[in-house]
Amino acid sequence: MSPEPFDAVDVIRAKRDGGAVPEDALRWMVDAYTRGYVSDAQMSAFTMAVLLNGMERDEIRVMTDAMIASGERMSFASLDKPTADKHSTGGVGDKITLPLAPLVAAFGIAVPQLSGRGLGHTGGTLDKLESIPGWRAALSNEEMLAQLADVGAVICAAGTGLAPADKKLYALRDVTGTVEAIPLIASSIMSKKIAEGTDSLVLDVKFGTGAFMKDPARARELAETMVALGTDSGVKTTALLTDMNTPLGLAIGNANEVRESVEVLAGGGPADVVELTVALAREMLALAGQPDADVEAALADGRAMDTWRRMIRAQDGDPDAPLPVARETHTVTASRSGVVTRMDAYDFGIAAWRLGAGRARAEDAVVHAAGIDLLVKPGDAVAEGQALFTLSADDGARFDRALDALDGAYEIGDTAPETAPLVRERITA
Ligand code: URA
Repeated sequence: MSPEPFDAVDVIRAKRDGGAVPEDALRWMVDAYTRGYVSDAQMSAFTMAVLLNGMERDEIRVMTDAMIASGERMSFASLDKPTADKHSTGGVGDKITLPLAPLVAAFGIAVPQLSGRGLGHTGGTLDKLESIPGWRAALSNEEMLAQLADVGAVICAAGTGLAPADKKLYALRDVTGTVEAIPLIASSIMSKKIAEGTDSLVLDVKFGTGAFMKDPARARELAETMVALGTDSGVKTTALLTDMNTPLGLAIGNANEVRESVEVLAGGGPADVVELTVALAREMLALAGQPDADVEAALADGRAMDTWRRMIRAQDGDPDAPLPVARETHTVTASRSGVVTRMDAYDFGIAAWRLGAGRARAEDAVVHAAGIDLLVKPGDAVAEGQALFTLSADDGARFDRALDALDGAYEIGDTAPETAPLVRERITA
């Protein structure tokens, strides 16, 4: 066996003392950890040093590259159309991928959305789509390419072959308090996106109570880091910085979020969901060479809906089948008249999770019909006794814990809250 060229302790010390790790040592560290030579204990010390001391732009590029090199790289070069992808850093009620992928594909762009399942208070796109009877998340690479060529849009599970180093590292960060390091989040997300092989990528980087990054300045730093990484790797990348202090839309859950997405595809739906879907579609289409595409027209005239139906059918789902409905509901009403001033995204996300819409462990099943339907949003005037939101669950015993999470999560005041734009900033290379 050839001796290892570096010593993990030297790499850890370099980062601990605030220095930059040389390229070959950093590549080795990622590779040796993936092989099991560098231990979890050593990698945890290293990731904590990164969290505390940061990384230079070049180190983040090398880290990302090393994670890409740990697995397969996909290619969409055989398709005769440009590819555009979108990634959201995750939020509450964030169902945007569902209307967005078919909408952009309706313009002849291939949209490969390799998605995940929810963990904790943020939902997962695959969980939402699995509410549709028959729909299948697992596709082979060949099936995915065939669907991209034919329908144009695919939303499916990311295979285990993309950036396996990230999978191992993410699980370690999750249990060592090192998820929040911007260099690690950026390299984790971008290694998977670059390995996937898309031509262009639009990032929806969220800030606020329901987001990973509570603070807009940190979200901006994350967005800038990811845009630089994508651009340096030849992927046309832009980011929108969007507000996640309030749940997106009116539905939080799985089946109800599919229902709301279908409303958007039918030309209706809540204004904020439409606004963000349209904003992200415009960005994706601009990167794919169609800056003047009339996105709203494709929602209004049914082109996006046609693509949605073909996309769902191609993965064995029945777009006309009734979606699951919960056995029990509980409606919360206003204790006074006034104006709704706040609905906290994080608390509503936790409540929906407690109702069964999310999972605590990766192996748990979600209850597709569970969730929350908002009947009002901040800024709406309400009368005492008026219904504010409805909780849905298969087991009424879950309501108490969900209501605990909602204690203090919303407010009714005398004056309307100040409105802030949903899309706060656009970040380009
Ligand atoms: N999502 C990822 O894929 N990785 C992170 O580090 C954080 C969010």
